[in-house]
Amino acid sequence: MGNLLANAYNIEDVRRLARAKLPKGIYESIERGTEDEAALANNLAGFQRLCLNPRVFVDVSDISLATELFGQRISMPLAIAPTGSAGLVWFRGEVELAKAAAAFNVPFTLATRSLSSIETIADEAGGNLWLQLYVWRDRSLSYQLIDRANAAGFKALLVTADTPVPPNREYNLRNGYGLPFKASRAAYTDICLHPLWLARVMGRYMLNGGMPRFETLPGRPKITEATDASMATSASVNWDDIRELRRRWPGVLMVKGILRADDARKAAACGVDAVVVSNHGGRNLDSSRAPIDVLPEILDAVGARVKVLVDSGVRRGSDVVKAVALGASAVLSGRPTLYGTAVAGRAGALHVLNILQREMTNTMGMIGCPAIRDLDRDLLHGLKGGTVLESASFLA
Ligand SMILES: Cc1cc2nc3c(=O)[nH]c(=O)nc-3n(C[C@H](O)[C@H](O)[C@H](O)COP(=O)(O)O)c2cc1C
Repeated sequence: MGNLLANAYNIEDVRRLARAKLPKGIYESIERGTEDEAALANNLAGFQRLCLNPRVFVDVSDISLATELFGQRISMPLAIAPTGSAGLVWFRGEVELAKAAAAFNVPFTLATRSLSSIETIADEAGGNLWLQLYVWRDRSLSYQLIDRANAAGFKALLVTADTPVPPNREYNLRNGYGLPFKASRAAYTDICLHPLWLARVMGRYMLNGGMPRFETLPGRPKITEATDASMATSASVNWDDIRELRRRWPGVLMVKGILRADDARKAAACGVDAVVVSNHGGRNLDSSRAPIDVLPEILDAVGARVKVLVDSGVRRGSDVVKAVALGASAVLSGRPTLYGTAVAGRAGALHVLNILQREMTNTMGMIGCPAIRDLDRDLLHGLKGGTVLESASFLA
């Protein structure tokens, strides 16, 4: 596998390798969006529409991507996004991904519905750990989860705001990979056509304790079992929940999935430390705007009070540079690091982080910015006076 990665020069190369390795249904559960996949395409296009205005004859012989986030020094302005199925692309994928993040000194976010527990991640990977939280119907179970994360030394809690109802993912109905996982004829055939995945991922789970389980959930349900209704994502979650979580959680609190300036203001008024501008990687509301397009409005609304992070569509180091130049404190990487994990576990995730770091460094050199603090909106084409969009074509 190492040889394969040697020829993977960018995230797209790694994506292709991941597609070849994974059963179609598992690959689709990572890659696809929702409904007509307009948001998915627009997330990528949003970054491509933004152009950089390079400064020349700046000494860029010593470029550093290091920055500080929530009082922690990190090697570049990037964190690993929560992705529920990391444990299905590689045996104990979350642990491997978290170890890569720790080695690279970037934060790792564990998803609520992970196949590795909060405690395992803390014990075996360590590093700068964040927990993603879906607020459940039974709030007391959600509070137990955050108490566990606090006891295990997790530094931040990201409360996901953009999934009040289940997303309309039609492809799951076709490929038979919805949750709880059912061995439909289509899924069974698909898995049999990928014997390496069957042996190296599922086979290893079966030999080490049996069918994978959602280890972070109370009761540790198997992926083939329906989770208790008390742990269903609550459709009634509201700002009172965020105020209550602020009261209970002593660490950094973020709300993930903000796409409106007024919601960002409400989050700030609840006392959060940061908002993550996100449309869940285009996986939930297909008619949502690209987060990179919304980012300037949110920064203008709350950037002076709270940190603003962004995700959805980051595929190049230059995308990270553009987001930070707009004013984001960091980006989250969802699919890219998951592709790497699918190809080669920890080594694959590290390969992806290295690609993004190398591309960022190259872009910073090209635009005359030796340090993160040198990035500003003046480097982006289409912004007037630093904040106002010059023309509708900027967002068209
Ligand atoms: C396979 C997969 C699973 C995800 N699971 C979660 C999740 O459990 N909770 C959550 O808040 N976001 C989840 N996300 C969304 C990511 O955290 C992130 O917002 C998104 O992937 C960013 O877009 P990108 O994939 O284009 O980088 C998931 C994304 C993917 C691809």
